[in-house]
Formats: sequence, C-alpha cells, structure tokens
Amino acid sequence: MAVGLPRHIAVIMDGNGRWATARGEPRIAGHREGAKSVRETVRAARELGIEALTLFAFSEQNWDRPPDEVDALMELLYRYVLEERAEIMDNQIRLTAIGALDRLPSFVRQPLFELCEASKENRGMTLCLALSYGGREDIVGAARALAADVRSGRIDPDEINEVLLDARLATASLPPLDLLIRTSGEYRISNFLLWQAAYAELYFTPRMWPEFRRPDLLEAIEAFRRRERRFGRVSAQVADEPAKRGP
Ligand code: IPE
Ligand code: IPE
Ligand code: MG
Repeated sequence: MAVGLPRHIAVIMDGNGRWATARGEPRIAGHREGAKSVRETVRAARELGIEALTLFAFSEQNWDRPPDEVDALMELLYRYVLEERAEIMDNQIRLTAIGALDRLPSFVRQPLFELCEASKENRGMTLCLALSYGGREDIVGAARALAADVRSGRIDPDEINEVLLDARLATASLPPLDLLIRTSGEYRISNFLLWQAAYAELYFTPRMWPEFRRPDLLEAIEAFRRRERRFGRVSAQVADEPAKRGP
C-alpha cells in the first residue's frame, strides 16, 4: 500500500571530494558544487511540502580533516548563510542547526544564529543543518540532560523512557525521521542520526552529492512511497491500520 510523503527527510551529502578528484579538480571544487545541490534540494523539498529537511553538512569527526579543507568548508558555510538569507525568508523556511555549534568559528556562528533567530517563526518548512554533529554525541548529551534531571529530583530513574530521551535530543523539535538518504554509494550512517534512524527508511544512491538534483530527490521519495513500513508488525496489520506510526 502506498504511503504518503515523508514528513522528515535527512541527507548524508557525501561524495564531494571524489566528484572533484574524478574531474581533476581540488576537493573544494566539489564542496562548492555541492552547495548548488543544497540549494536545489531545499527548494524542491519546500515546493513538495516536506515538513523538515535535515542536512549533514559537517560531522564532529570532520574536524580531523586537513586544516585547509576545514577552513574552506567554514568559508562556504558562511557564504551559504549570507547568500541564502533572502530565499529562506521569502519561502517561509525556519532555519535551525544541530551539533556542537560552539566549535564553529564565530564568523560562521554569528550570521548562522542571527538567521536562525530571524526565521524562527517561519512555518513553511524546517531546514536543519547538522554542523559539527555526531549521533553518539547527541545521545550522550541527552543522557547527560537526563542525569541532571535525576540529580535535581525532577525525574526518577525508573521514569526514563524513549519519549523522555527523545525529547532531549537535538532533533526534539522536528517530526520523526522518515527517510534517510545517503549519496556516493557508501552504505553507512557515519555517526549521523543514530537514534532517530531507528525506523527511518534508508535510501542509498551511487550519485555523488554535487550531481544530486531535484529528480534524484523525487526518485528517493518515490522509492519511499513504495516501501511498506511495518514497525515490527505484520503486513495484514499495517494494511488495516496504515496511519499508525512506529514507536
Ligand atoms: C561530503 O563530501 C562533504 C563533507 C563531509 C563535508 P566528502 O568531502 O566526504 O567527499 P568524499 O566522500 O571524500 O568524496
Ligand atoms: C559523512 O561523510 C559526513 C557528512 C556528509 C557531513 P564522511 O565522508 O565524513 O563519512 P565517512 O568518513 O565516509 O564515513
Ligand atoms: Mg565522504
């Protein structure tokens, strides 16, 4: 049975470096072209009526890359925030960011926070940038928050459940993750939304991120709509009660 549109799509935007290297260009050329894919994907998702789009732009582990590449990525991020401001505001997009944002250089953090603040009442779509993000780090942060609540007497350890932990993750304000896309032919999650991906549909494409455009997003969504999400039950139950979501 066909399912509707995914409410929340996340993308591991991978393959920039290999795309550039294959063309005899420096890796940064791939990141630059990848920014165009970001633009097109955001626009397409907004037009389709997707509620939330989370983009893995920089992982906590990416700080270990050569300093020149890290610097170039920060510069591109800065430019993205400046150049997309009008598009974000005109299209009623709410920009948010998750990850260890205090690790970002202040020339990026300042305009980023400013645009997040300026766009926070927008209701068209949430665009969430994962920057200096790690899925394990996210879960550790939630565990720490729960521990603090226990210590202060706000909650009892026996009350801790999935709902309380989920509410302390960086993604707490977003709908449940429905579809996780990874480009570049790699079959791994690379410490992205580990908890949140529990019942997400996974979609892998060999396409490199700089080549990923609107038709590729549509294809991923079509694949999603052909899936049967059972959440641990059997087909007959799902057919009877298609609207029920997973845990
Ligand atoms: C994804 O492309 C962008 C970031 C991780 C910032 P890569 O830079 O990982 O490109 P490949 O995987 O080396 O080709
Ligand atoms: C994941 O890609 C991080 C982002 C897309 C931002 P990586 O290229 O860093 O992942 P690995 O190293 O191939 O696992
Ligand atoms: Mg990569």
